[in-house]
Amino acid sequence: MQEFFRPVGFSCKLCFMHTPLFSLSNQSSLLQTLTLVNFRNYSHRTFEFHDSIVALVGDNGVGKTNILEAISLFSSGRGLKSTKLSEMKMLHALEGWVVSANFSLGGTPIPFGTALDYSPSGTERRLIRINQVPVKNQSTLTEWLNIVWVTPPMARLFQEGGSIRRKFIDRMVMALNPSHTERLNRYEHYLRERSQLLRQGIQDDQWLASIEQRLSEDGVAISIARSQLVRQLTEAQSNDFDSPFPRFFAQMDGEIDQWCRDRTALDIEDKIRHELRQSRHQDALTGGATIGAHRSNLAVTHLGKHMPSVLCSTGEQKMLLHAMTLAFIRLLDSYRDRLTLLLLDDVIAHLDYEHRAYLFQEIRTILAQGANIQIFMTGTSMEEFLDIQPAQIIQL
Ligand SMILES: Nc1ncnc2c1ncn2[C@@H]1O[C@H](COP(=O)(O)OP(=O)(O)O)[C@@H](O)[C@H]1O
Ligand SMILES: [Mg+2]
Repeated sequence: MQEFFRPVGFSCKLCFMHTPLFSLSNQSSLLQTLTLVNFRNYSHRTFEFHDSIVALVGDNGVGKTNILEAISLFSSGRGLKSTKLSEMKMLHALEGWVVSANFSLGGTPIPFGTALDYSPSGTERRLIRINQVPVKNQSTLTEWLNIVWVTPPMARLFQEGGSIRRKFIDRMVMALNPSHTERLNRYEHYLRERSQLLRQGIQDDQWLASIEQRLSEDGVAISIARSQLVRQLTEAQSNDFDSPFPRFFAQMDGEIDQWCRDRTALDIEDKIRHELRQSRHQDALTGGATIGAHRSNLAVTHLGKHMPSVLCSTGEQKMLLHAMTLAFIRLLDSYRDRLTLLLLDDVIAHLDYEHRAYLFQEIRTILAQGANIQIFMTGTSMEEFLDIQPAQIIQL
């Protein structure tokens, strides 16, 4: 395998530091270089970024989304396309892919790297290094960076099942609250473990009760964090009546979310534990768990139309998604401790002139106020980005 994560033109001053120790407010933070090796259509390529707004412009198939996908791997999970790690390897390449990046975080240069690897049993996994130090847990990435994306498939956000909307909200919660990632991972781990025990008919009451205890504690914390984010998002939207984006009302909708509105956390944990115990027999037959944070849904109403999002037209649904993204950018303005990378894939081309101009204006205002955000946008023509000057435009 090629030398792993050799930073490009970088001298490391803090080689043994792998937890963020500094506040980033009022300091410049940027992703400065990105090197892709055997990644999708790139055998070896380095990109340099020097602006808070970067537009990647080029014909279809040139490799714009692949760059955003590579950036998205500096967050936990499988990235923006959520595909298998081996699928990201350049076809016919002899060695696995490596993505390395140099960030300037609060003025300090820090190299990050991630690469495809295989465990001794042959399952694929991702190696991660931050500041030259291997990182065991992907959720560590969230302590350093927030990465949020809007991609064309997300326009179906309001047409599909609840899990895609939960993921949309969870990614935003993670950006503001890094411990959410670990809590979600733990929650899913215990859900799987309980299902396995029940399916195998293992009636170990103590074991099951301790899993259900964890599920109820983490489940309540997850639900509260989601509801809080959704409330903040609703409050952060613009009061500007000239905005061409729709105003929305959003709230988490599910049994636990209902309880969260009028009961104490301890009370809800007790109730979930009780219900999980009662539903063991049924859950053994159906798989999964009948109650929990994994069953919550995000309910959004288009206020101008007084219409639940599911009944809105696809165009209206797309605008609701953008309105929520804009609200999130505004919300980030008050969370400046970590750099947020916002990846907008092919979003601009789908906006008409009025919406595009408004979005650019909002972005510029928030950046001018000192928000710790770097935005990457893709498009097929330069004209799409004329109004966002000054920005760095990279023609591919
Ligand atoms: N694993 C891979 N190996 C080689 N090429 C790939 C791989 N995965 C995708 N590609 C190619 O990458 C090219 C660029 O894709 P993409 O980044 O989606 O383009 P766009 O600029 O339209 O966003 C496509 O032609 C696609 O076939
Ligand atoms: Mg694309």
